Amino acid sequence: MEQINRHQNQKLSALIDTLEQNQSLTLSEYEELITCRCKEATDILAKRAVSLRQRIYGNSVYIRGLIEISNICRNDCFYCGIRRSSQRCERYRLTAEQILECCEEGYSLGFRTFVLQGGEDAFFTDEVICSILSEIKKRYPDCAVTLSLGERSRNSYQKLFDAGADRYLLRHETADCEHYRKLHPPDMSFHHRMKCLHDLREIGYQTGCGFMVGSPYQTAADLAKDLKFIEDFRPEMCGIGPFIPHRDTPFHDQAAGDVELTCYLLSIIRLIHPPVLLPATTALGTIDPGGREKGILSGANVIMPNLSPVSVRKKYELYDNKICTGDESAQCKSSLSGKMKSIGYEIVTDRGDIKKPESDTA
Ligand code: 5AD
Repeated sequence: MEQINRHQNQKLSALIDTLEQNQSLTLSEYEELITCRCKEATDILAKRAVSLRQRIYGNSVYIRGLIEISNICRNDCFYCGIRRSSQRCERYRLTAEQILECCEEGYSLGFRTFVLQGGEDAFFTDEVICSILSEIKKRYPDCAVTLSLGERSRNSYQKLFDAGADRYLLRHETADCEHYRKLHPPDMSFHHRMKCLHDLREIGYQTGCGFMVGSPYQTAADLAKDLKFIEDFRPEMCGIGPFIPHRDTPFHDQAAGDVELTCYLLSIIRLIHPPVLLPATTALGTIDPGGREKGILSGANVIMPNLSPVSVRKKYELYDNKICTGDESAQCKSSLSGKMKSIGYEIVTDRGDIKKPESDTA
């Protein structure tokens, strides 16, 4: 037994060395890294991820003010609490004025990136979003605006980019076409989602992809494909968080994803693509009260506190028991600052754009 473990550990540590050197592994090597996860490998990965992140970003943690502009969605993703068929979900949509008020509050709290996130709500036409974007950019020219509004046409992405959007988050959800089909109804297409990501990148957005850890039917081979996709696509941002069941969805009785596996993958992603902007997500903080700190200590460097009006926060419920939905969350930033300080990190007032690693700038 001892012997087997020693052999296994040596193999894993060789894989981690290769990963760090080449920023690449084969699909089967990624799969092995995932299936043979153990405490030793977790610790080595986290240590290397943290030191890489430290070299590029120091001990700064970037914050993004998340404004949940609408929970109306035309899609029916099996995992999501705001899916079209969710009858119990109380729908809302923010007005332009409300969105601008969120920015005003965020700006005074030190946020320099606003993330407008919402379901695929037909009300938010290109014209509507462009006018909101122009106003935000006029009032806060020193801020970055990130959009996270789902799948749109290339033409639409282009218009929004021309109106000032800097970044776009669109999680790919899974890099395996078959697995994608188990998470989504037949009218949604894996290939279309991937096309959207490529369009965004070509237009010039800083682009973010991502996936849930422990989503139903996910295998180690699927996760290996996610890692390979990240290796190939080299996104500026990558959002990963544990799957958490929502009571009113077809996946209500599925198990939640695992904090440790999520952190392990965060470390691996940092090694694959050292400058990536990697959030310790709200979902991670929801399944474990210390989850976001654990994420940072595994190589993440971004936190996305909620700036939505308190009256709608509970309604944007992608999964059960989401944190920071009470009226304490406007002050989330100061409590987060304290939490980050306690683990040796500092929340900074900065747009927090992606940095080139030293070797690229030399
Ligand atoms: N658990 C965790 N994450 C979820 N998301 C949607 N539903 C859930 C859930 N039940 C994630 C998806 C989506 C992002 C906005 O939230 O990955 O892209």
